[in-house]
Amino acid sequence: MISTQAFIAHPLILRHSSAHDRFSLNRSPIKRSLLATGVKRDRFTCSLSASVSNKVPESARLLNTAPLRSESDASRQPLNPTVRFLKSLFAEWRLLVPAIIAALFGSLSAVCIPVLYGRVVGFLARAASLDPVAGRLELVGHTIRLFGAFMIESAMTFIFVSLAARAIDRSTRRLRERLFDKTLRNDVGFFDETGRSRIEHSITREIKSVRDTMMMNLSKDRGLRAIVEVFFSLIVSVSITGTLGFPVFGLLVPILSTTSARIGMRNGRLAFNVEKKEGGVQSFVSERIRGLRTIKAFGAEKRESQALGRILDGVEQVSKKSTLSRGMTESTSRFTIYTTMLSYLMVGGLLICSRSLSYEMFACLTGYVWNLNFCMAGLSFTLTDSAKLSKSLESIYSLLDVAKSYSSDAEHKANGTSVLPAYNGEVQFSNVYFNYPSRPDVMVLNGINISLKPGQMVALVGSSGGGKSTIAALLSRMYAATSGRITLDGTDIQSIPPEVYAKQISVVEQDPILFQGTIRDNIAYGRPDELADDDVVIQAAKEANAHEFIMKLPDGYNTMWNPGSNISGGQRQRIAIARSLVKSPRVLILDEATSALDQESERLVQNALERIMQNRTVLLIAHRLSTVQSANLILFVRDGEVVEQGGYKELLSKENGHFRALVNSASNYVDCTAPPF
Ligand SMILES: Nc1ncnc2c1ncn2[C@@H]1O[C@H](COP(=O)(O)OP(=O)(O)OP(=O)(O)O)[C@@H](O)[C@H]1O
Ligand SMILES: [Mg+2]
Repeated sequence: MISTQAFIAHPLILRHSSAHDRFSLNRSPIKRSLLATGVKRDRFTCSLSASVSNKVPESARLLNTAPLRSESDASRQPLNPTVRFLKSLFAEWRLLVPAIIAALFGSLSAVCIPVLYGRVVGFLARAASLDPVAGRLELVGHTIRLFGAFMIESAMTFIFVSLAARAIDRSTRRLRERLFDKTLRNDVGFFDETGRSRIEHSITREIKSVRDTMMMNLSKDRGLRAIVEVFFSLIVSVSITGTLGFPVFGLLVPILSTTSARIGMRNGRLAFNVEKKEGGVQSFVSERIRGLRTIKAFGAEKRESQALGRILDGVEQVSKKSTLSRGMTESTSRFTIYTTMLSYLMVGGLLICSRSLSYEMFACLTGYVWNLNFCMAGLSFTLTDSAKLSKSLESIYSLLDVAKSYSSDAEHKANGTSVLPAYNGEVQFSNVYFNYPSRPDVMVLNGINISLKPGQMVALVGSSGGGKSTIAALLSRMYAATSGRITLDGTDIQSIPPEVYAKQISVVEQDPILFQGTIRDNIAYGRPDELADDDVVIQAAKEANAHEFIMKLPDGYNTMWNPGSNISGGQRQRIAIARSLVKSPRVLILDEATSALDQESERLVQNALERIMQNRTVLLIAHRLSTVQSANLILFVRDGEVVEQGGYKELLSKENGHFRALVNSASNYVDCTAPPF
């Protein structure tokens, strides 16, 4: 057991508790749920440390349980998400202040309309007894006043809606950009742990839903304007009907409206849950459409439809509650409206009978009651929406908070390393331990020490699941090591700004992704901050054996690529190699397998790979004997450890050696001309 004080004081922790380490641990779901349930840090750390394998040294174990935030961070209570969003909305105060003023004027003119309308009715009641000319003149006066109120109301509505909509657009756009930027700056572990579909859902659907909901509530009978109008309508109604009307407009209507609002808010929370479940449907469908070929190959159409059916059952389950609650909201809202109508007719009738209310004032009261009805119904929707909105914002901001706040520029300028140094490409792994953040209890790498001299080629071989790709992933900085150091020319790679590091390292994957755009854009993607002119792009394509086939495409380098494009796997791979080449990296990481390609493509890709390996430090996951033979050093990786290393001949001569056994194993053996390890 390790006490809190012990790990806080431990020098190793102090040395290694970089922002990144702290972050990786901070976002552990176990930790989060424990913190959420109020379990103290020391209990959490002790129980976690107890679950780490015995093979892991104390330093790694301690790091695994190191404090995640400074005490001051932990004690800082984040603001309520809705307040945070409103704060960001109010950054648009230049738009919002005139919008709110316009809304108030719009509402005031709307509140005046029933009075003007009442006057017209009063005029009509006595119109027959008036002189026709005087009557017409008075009618014109009433009409002009009403028309003026209508015009003001319409103009104010235009100003309010257009300005407020712009403010909402800007702030939701900012939120979307911030969330996208923050999540992208994280290492892959963050995505593994949080879930790609959850991130996608937040950036696309949740923020869109926030925007749409807010936009919808700009209409006259909702949101801010409805609140103002309900307030004034109640005051005027009470003042018209006096003590007789007070129980109705001062008590009954507010109580009924509050009840309806509470049901509306519950409905909003349930609607959010339905939307969340709907997100699951979306990611299921898009994944299956992407994997269409696999589904067809396995004749799994029916199975997949059934699987979708099961997901939809889940949606329906949540939706059932929501539909019930929706029905309740609607019916309570209707009930409130009818009760208000009935009460106003009774109160109005009684007042007319007792000669305390003129027809003019009754008509005026009618206007206010209708206003009340519309606005209260609108407000119940607003409250439903606001509950949904607050849940969406909670989800968006929780993702934003957990996403690493990595301002590389600020950090590295402070370190004085923003100037791009000329790296030689010397790579060193020193006692590297690693567990995937999504599997904190399994150490995948157990003390890796590797040294790659500039220009050397080091091949990783070994059994499946041994950790070869993980080593490559750490060097390409997809994940941060749990403990130990990886350095480039003696500098810890975690302290090199991501943009600078990305220029030094290139990864050639087995199944590279191209983005929508022209072939040229895809190649030039490797060098975004400099002018990757046509010469550079063409030169890279030539070196990658891609130029010839690109020139045969209908629009050459301007041919658009999209996922359905008629470009083979080998061609895609060569475009990706060209993309890696334009940035002239010092260190190259490659997973060599080309087994999915036909012989001709494989030869072309292999040929391109061999060419680009020249004069670069290469970490290679070797699948062919030919490349293993030409490697300066071969490392045999098993269970996260380098169990054997040396030159090709040296390893082959080892009696009972792992490498020798692998080469001799017929199923794994690959000669210079054919199949992979
Ligand atoms: N994203 C991940 N999350 C959790 N565990 C992972 C992840 N990726 C790999 N692992 C686990 O890490 C271990 C090492 O995997 P790795 O992919 O590095 O092996 P490998 O040597 O490259 O195997 P192969 O030769 O089959 O590609 C395996 O046990 C694997 O299950
Ligand atoms: Mg692998």
